[in-house]
Amino acid sequence: MGVCKKVSLFIERASWIRKMFEEGEELKRRIGEENVFDFSLGNPDIEPPDRLKEVIIQLMRSDEKGMHRYMSNAGFWETRKAVAEFLSEERSVEFSFAQVIMTVGAAGGLNVVLKSILDPGDEVIVPSPYFVEYDFYMDNHGGISKKVRTNDDFSLNIDAISSAITSNTKAIIINNPNNPTGRIYGDEEIRGLAEVLAYFSNKYGRPIYLISDEPYRRLSYGKKVPDIFEYYKESILVNSFSKDLSIPGERIGYIAIHPEMHEGDHLIKAFTFCNRTLGYVNAPAIMQRAIPYILREPAPVEIFKRRRDLLCSALNSFGYELIWPDGTFYVFPRSPIKDDRKFVSLLREENILVVPGSGFGGDGYFRISYCMPEERIEKALNGFKKALLKARS
Ligand SMILES: Cc1ncc(COP(=O)(O)O)c(C=O)c1O
Repeated sequence: MGVCKKVSLFIERASWIRKMFEEGEELKRRIGEENVFDFSLGNPDIEPPDRLKEVIIQLMRSDEKGMHRYMSNAGFWETRKAVAEFLSEERSVEFSFAQVIMTVGAAGGLNVVLKSILDPGDEVIVPSPYFVEYDFYMDNHGGISKKVRTNDDFSLNIDAISSAITSNTKAIIINNPNNPTGRIYGDEEIRGLAEVLAYFSNKYGRPIYLISDEPYRRLSYGKKVPDIFEYYKESILVNSFSKDLSIPGERIGYIAIHPEMHEGDHLIKAFTFCNRTLGYVNAPAIMQRAIPYILREPAPVEIFKRRRDLLCSALNSFGYELIWPDGTFYVFPRSPIKDDRKFVSLLREENILVVPGSGFGGDGYFRISYCMPEERIEKALNGFKKALLKARS
């Protein structure tokens, strides 16, 4: 067989996701897409800001020469500077362009970071439930991911994280606000985490990095998303515009490090090199040019909040057990039966597609992505009610 054993195994392991996807597609073909309520994908349904389209049209019409050439692998200086200024306003420390590199989305950024810091066998702690792609990114770069369950309310379990750290621990990845739970880890959690990381960094005589994946940061419904840089110098931020500006297909994001990080210049050199050699070469040129003009465009947070309120209050009234998300566009209710995949099948019988929690290391839950207009959510509610009644019967 041409495909290597490892990838074959990954595909096999992920086969239930494929099966679910195919069943969903089959359902759409059979009864029409408009009759299927697809809550499975984290793909924003809201259009990007008009300003983005205007800026891109202007840029494409520009007579400037060399618009579409390669640039420095770290990205355009002007874009890095604009992101650094934005971060300096938003965070507790001052950034310069030298602490920012532009990446191919947050996914590209995470791969660049892991490639740069991991030696074979190095461990990375991941609080779970978590964004499952981390496992594959980790594998790409020879790392081992060590899952640590969050508390019942999906807050960080600092004691459990502390117990999981060994002399092989290189980093922890947190995703704040979190996919799939919608939870925002608060200041107390981040402070506690920073103290533990500082203690073990000191013990082992080398930094344990705090990597914070924050593409949902501007999709908070009011709760403050803490600033990792305020608490910990060995912090690496990975971010993108995929979710808050609804442009996941355009593949634009960035990495930023704490300005006072130990050997930060060296790390940025490594990121720049890995951006190139992982094959991204650089983040898309036209999007980099557009970013300075759209950085401060408002995120559609009110729309997602209204959807959250509608969906969560209805699910609560039916009897679902759930923690209301603080942000993102996901909610992670408890499955009314132990087997979350079975419950997902019951929802599919009502033409509702969601993802089992086991796909996120959260067995016994399921994820709803409310990237869907309120009228459609309202139409789906009865199906959620019926599936719950069936599960209980
Ligand atoms: C937690 C998390 N991190 C990273 C990504 C990847 O984002 P991007 O499209 O910016 O690569 C996603 C996408 O769903 C995500 O949910």
